Amino acid sequence: MDFCDLIIKKRSGRELSEDEIRYLVKGTVDESIPDYQLSAFLMAVVFQGMTDRETAALTMAMAYSGETVDLSELCYTVDKHSTGGVGDKTSLIVGPIAAACGCTVAKMSGKGLGHTGGTIDKLESVPGVRTEMSKEAFLKQAKSVGLVIAGQSGDLAPADKKLYALRDVTGTVESLPLIVSSIMSKKLASGANSIVLDVKTGSGAFMHTLEDSCRLAQSMVTIGRACGRKIDAVISDMSAPLGNCIGNAMEVEEAIEVLKGNGPEDLKELCLELASDMVRLALDISAKEAKDKAQKALDTGYAAQCFGRFMLAQGAKADPIEHPELLPKARYSMPVIASQSGYLTAVDALALGNVSLKLGAGRKTKKDVIDPAAGIRVYKKPGDYVHKGDLLAMLYTNQECACVIPDSAYAFEEEKPKPRSLIYKTFV
Ligand code: URA
Repeated sequence: MDFCDLIIKKRSGRELSEDEIRYLVKGTVDESIPDYQLSAFLMAVVFQGMTDRETAALTMAMAYSGETVDLSELCYTVDKHSTGGVGDKTSLIVGPIAAACGCTVAKMSGKGLGHTGGTIDKLESVPGVRTEMSKEAFLKQAKSVGLVIAGQSGDLAPADKKLYALRDVTGTVESLPLIVSSIMSKKLASGANSIVLDVKTGSGAFMHTLEDSCRLAQSMVTIGRACGRKIDAVISDMSAPLGNCIGNAMEVEEAIEVLKGNGPEDLKELCLELASDMVRLALDISAKEAKDKAQKALDTGYAAQCFGRFMLAQGAKADPIEHPELLPKARYSMPVIASQSGYLTAVDALALGNVSLKLGAGRKTKKDVIDPAAGIRVYKKPGDYVHKGDLLAMLYTNQECACVIPDSAYAFEEEKPKPRSLIYKTFV
């Protein structure tokens, strides 16, 4: 096969066969196809798209391009994936709830990049916590604790690793079939039987419009089911930050608040929805039973206990539920003051995510080192009435920097806005 013929075939909008797609993936991993040809192919996909058959074939070929995790000896395995957002600490909450309900959550997660945070960085902000572990240790903890979260092994879906790195530098990230195959190949290789996807929509999300987010969710659900997994998706809002905290250690603290029965309403609502979905899929019970179980796990404190056991198993020096004071704190803080009065109609997630990045809470490139204590505490959210001079947010950092949240991140109106939707749609 000559790969140039496949580039031309895709460029002219024709469908590739399964064999041709397998050839592409094999050539990506063994590096027999040079980067310039792969880049040209990716750009052809951006313009011509892929059929469902092609997307499914690409997903499967990438999923099996390296190591896969065998969770077959575990019961009721469930994974949850968020397409990424600002202040999204849901994995730290829904994992313990699902584990408390009898599910096994054996999850591989990524580090944050750009304005979106990553679960691994949040976990590693807890003193002592490790997310690198052997396969044996991963399975052992899954069995004994019911919850384990590890950094993604380099051997998992190596074709995606290579293609994603190329997409990042060739302007070819924004393509539905490429995003679907990238995310789903890693989910399939990670081995869980049930998967719940949290597809974000809005300024801080990968997909800015509801229509695009729905297309992404539908496509991932279709592929996951075609590959024999139980999978559902929720479309949730990311036009404003989720919860009140942005930044790694601060988000752990907020997750603990929710597990203790407190915390902000939007975060609690979304976590209950996602956790109930995980429990329903994994245990094969009704939506009502699942929601009752998840709520009970929270109300009885059992989910909080699971979180503590999980943290200690991952190496935490002390249970952060009992000792939240051990979480790192920033040296400097700077208030953000309202310059006018009125109802807040927008608190732009992307703008706040970018400020948090500058404060040190995120990384611009994969090699950057993050500051676990840096971040933003949000005091006013869309729908709140604000008086001129009120505290809108507080910025935290260990660097001497002059970061500000731009005025354009906030929008005010005289009329009280309609309540914002948090969950737009579920694909069940
Ligand atoms: N996240 C991924 O893992 N892959 C994409 O293509 C986009 C987001």
